[in-house]
Amino acid sequence: MRRRITPFVQLVIIPAAIMFTLTAFTLMRSFPQEDLKGKYKYKDFESALKCRSCHPGIYEQWSQAMMSQAYTHHWDEIEYFDLAVPHAEVNPALKGPVDGCNGCHTPMGYMEGTMPPPRPSEKSMANESVSCEVCHLTQRAQTDPPFNFSYYIVPGQTKYSGRSPEIQSPAHKIVQSDFHRTTEFCGNCHNEQNPYGIWVKSTQMEWKEGPYAAEGVRCQDCHMPKGQYQLALMGKTYDDARLHLFHGAHDPGKVRGTIEVRIEPDMRLAEPGETIVFTVALFNQKTGHKFPTGSVEDRIAWLDVEATDAKGNKYHLNVDKKGFEGEEYTISGDYLAYQDMGIPLKIKDFKGVQRDGIPFGNRIFRMPYFDEQGNMTIMQWNTFSQGVDYRIGPRETKVEKFTFRIPYEAAPGAMTVHAVLNYQLLVKPVADYLKVPSDESAILMVNDHSTRVEILP
Ligand code: HEC
Ligand code: HEC
Ligand code: HEC
Ligand code: HEC
Ligand code: HEC
Repeated sequence: MRRRITPFVQLVIIPAAIMFTLTAFTLMRSFPQEDLKGKYKYKDFESALKCRSCHPGIYEQWSQAMMSQAYTHHWDEIEYFDLAVPHAEVNPALKGPVDGCNGCHTPMGYMEGTMPPPRPSEKSMANESVSCEVCHLTQRAQTDPPFNFSYYIVPGQTKYSGRSPEIQSPAHKIVQSDFHRTTEFCGNCHNEQNPYGIWVKSTQMEWKEGPYAAEGVRCQDCHMPKGQYQLALMGKTYDDARLHLFHGAHDPGKVRGTIEVRIEPDMRLAEPGETIVFTVALFNQKTGHKFPTGSVEDRIAWLDVEATDAKGNKYHLNVDKKGFEGEEYTISGDYLAYQDMGIPLKIKDFKGVQRDGIPFGNRIFRMPYFDEQGNMTIMQWNTFSQGVDYRIGPRETKVEKFTFRIPYEAAPGAMTVHAVLNYQLLVKPVADYLKVPSDESAILMVNDHSTRVEILP
């Protein structure tokens, strides 16, 4: 049945919907946690260096993890100072959300309130990023679900932690906190809603919908594993001490093996001109959330399949289309994207840069973010809608097919077909354009597998 648009819809609902979208954007939403902006001074907080004097091991673990560099890391500095801050200058309605970057990346800087905080080179306390104090002063979440720096923090000598200590600390009081053992604790910063109301980060919510939540396996179990360790110099060695590894996407060892890859042909013998269908299974055995998660706007994982004949000639295989909506964003090709970077960079009619920057015809596991004009964006705060979610969920197995017609020039003998799953933190064309150091766009191999077929003469 065709629905008719009634005059009521035409005259009342459509204009009201337009008005609502406009005001929603100009007013922005106000969250209780925004009261924290400018509420305290740096001297109200203790430096991580002080904690280090008694907790040297934990300090060194934390200092190698990205959360200790959330404000100072090169790509964070570039995105915040070169894209977000100038964007808010062009569009003042973005000032609140852009100040809010600091609510997660440098909570002490946010609570101190100088916006933007001093540049990393000025070596202010903002550089401590997600520091010991931030996590150990947190008492609870202010919202349900937790999101957008919804931590409730009061500075002082009382620190909160999961364990009730057997030894008292001479430096501080400890209050046992069950909250530190929940995923909501992490969700305070690992879920994010942008000014358009889009969930641009939802790691904790993805976890909650997945199999690990049902089994009680939490963020801490994979990112703060328990091991034998001395927590404080004068303290005892515990068998189940929570290590502060927080290793994630920037640890190649953590990423490696996340997805298992297997490839098989539908027949083992073929003549040139015949068609073989290869099937690749990709099983997510390691992550408690989707892969990739978090900064989804930046990240891609892609499956590259290549055949090598007995003489060493190489042939690239293109993935078979499945026909779902939005699939074009999951197959690499020659497209321009990220045009909205032109706004903060003040380039008129910016043409954009290459969308994928990888060989064409490969399957990409990603979720595209779009700006209001429908172009893909890496500026998560400027995300108006999201496209197809073609990431690999926890314990999910994706199956891809590659129909390959054996070329007439293929050499007789064994042909090896190699499937590789690659991963990149930030799509390379964007990284190169913004001069982000190359480690952020290096290609990491997640896993690979190969199979063989026999080409008949
Ligand atoms: C003068 C030494 C000293 C300093 C400085 C110090 N701590 Fe401690 N802290 C201890 C001792 C001792 C314990 C008990 C360790 C144990 O249980 O074996 C402890 C325990 C803890 C615990 C866990 C309690 C538990 O359940 O075992 C946390 C969390 C903690 N400290 C955080 C901090 C933070 C954050 C800082 C910096 C702001 C800090 N500490 C500075 C000595 C210190
Ligand atoms: C991102 C948040 C976060 C940061 C940053 C952080 N911690 Fe923790 N820490 C936790 C959580 C969560 C626990 C409790 C885990 C549990 O009990 O399951 C914890 C536990 C501890 C413990 C007790 C470990 C145990 O086995 O009970 C100590 C001691 C501690 N932290 C000290 C520090 C120090 C010192 C720093 C800075 C060098 C620091 N933490 C930084 C989140 C954090
Ligand atoms: C079953 C183990 C497991 C659990 C549970 C888990 N993770 Fe992970 N996480 C991983 C693995 C493995 C990686 C590395 C692969 C990757 O980058 O996704 C990872 C990566 C990450 C990353 C970097 C991801 C990216 O793409 O940039 C973040 C952030 C993260 N985890 C946060 C969390 C939070 C928050 C929770 C709880 C809500 C959690 N993790 C629960 C295993 C786990
Ligand atoms: C105060 C905010 C905050 C809290 C609370 C927090 N995180 Fe994070 N976390 C961040 C930010 C910001 C980053 C991004 C760091 C960067 O810029 O690369 C991050 C990054 C990470 C990464 C990615 C590391 C990588 O190698 O890419 C992991 C893993 C992670 N956090 C785990 C956790 C876990 C587990 C918890 C809870 C125990 C937690 N975080 C709590 C803010 C927070
Ligand atoms: C609700 C908390 C939160 C807010 C608000 C937030 N971020 Fe983040 N940001 C994170 C977390 C958590 C990660 C890590 C996710 C992951 O590892 O995939 C992250 C990752 C990033 C990264 C990627 C770091 C890397 O090396 O891969 C950049 C860049 C970044 N944020 C910039 C910003 C900017 C700019 C803003 C403001 C417009 C902002 N963030 C707002 C929590 C937040």
